[in-house]
Amino acid sequence: MKPDFTILGIESTCDETSAAVLKGGKFLLSNVIYSQIEEHKKYHGVVPELASRAHAAKIATVITEALQNHPIDCVAFASGPGLPGGLMVGRVAAETLAAYKKVPLIGVNHLEGHLFACDFENGEVKHRLQFPLIALVVSGGHTELWYVKDYGQYKVLGKTRDDAAGEAFDKVAKLLGLPYPGGPQVSQQALQGRRDAIAFPRPLLPGTWEFSFSGIKTSVSYYLRDHQNRSIPDVCASFEQAMVDTLVTKTLLAAKKYKVPYIAVGGGVAANSLLRETLQMKAAAQGKTVYFVERKLSSDNAAMIALAAYKKLEYAQITGTPLQPNIDINPNMKVRSWK
Ligand code: KG4
Ligand code: ZN
Repeated sequence: MKPDFTILGIESTCDETSAAVLKGGKFLLSNVIYSQIEEHKKYHGVVPELASRAHAAKIATVITEALQNHPIDCVAFASGPGLPGGLMVGRVAAETLAAYKKVPLIGVNHLEGHLFACDFENGEVKHRLQFPLIALVVSGGHTELWYVKDYGQYKVLGKTRDDAAGEAFDKVAKLLGLPYPGGPQVSQQALQGRRDAIAFPRPLLPGTWEFSFSGIKTSVSYYLRDHQNRSIPDVCASFEQAMVDTLVTKTLLAAKKYKVPYIAVGGGVAANSLLRETLQMKAAAQGKTVYFVERKLSSDNAAMIALAAYKKLEYAQITGTPLQPNIDINPNMKVRSWK
């Protein structure tokens, strides 16, 4: 492949159908995202069967819009982790297109995509991440801490034992009668509340790098059961503070323990302002630099999938190592080093 190869990325792991074209590992020519929020809203969460149908209904349109007349040298799709139905739709679309265009097909890990998304600035890839870093990947389906030695060199330190952070935001929003997705709603309400009004727990699970958010959510539900005259803004502010304290404390502890100067935060919850401000401030006080994904690329998108594929292809090309196509879908795919 020529050095400035162009990749079409496809994302369909959860509730966004997306396609993007990335040229030369740098220029994002398109990034079309169809969000299924309206389909899932009345259920306060993603309904897998509805998600599969919506992906199937939209994927051709989204790809057509992203492709326009751009010539492509490769098709990449997120082969996991994610909902099986969505992954199947993504694979079939990607494989068909790659066969038709006679270009290689490559599957990439969706969570790796969330990390790579931190490399974009204003629609351009700045390749700005520096290593080693601690990555906090925090979304509606996942919450994980990784030690990252370089692009493609990972050690997973810990994951959530139960709810992902975004899932906890969504469930608390549901308890409060706020619409899905809950994160932005809870954050909005929290602006009017007192962050120290209610002492929700901070589950730090000392001695592990794991998370557990179901206890905070249960505390909120008990609080609501026992307090008829509660202030929704106070509940939201106190809950958000407990979530952020937990995420920030563990991330900074990991950065300290592994002696890394850099931290990267990706995934839907990375859009959270309190998380961004708190981590930024505390990390700076410890001399550490934080790379946050830009808000518009924090939730699921195909630009990050195309970039993850680019980095893998570039490495294979430079080193002459055979590329692992990784096209079998895997709903429980783990992050694996490829360097
Ligand atoms: O990365 P994403 O789009 O999908 C998954 O891969 O899961 O993340 C969606 C999640 C939802 O749970 C949503 O409530 C949460 O990200 N989220 C937020 C905020 N914006 C989105 N959580 C907290 N604060 C926010 N501002
Ligand atoms: Zn995601």
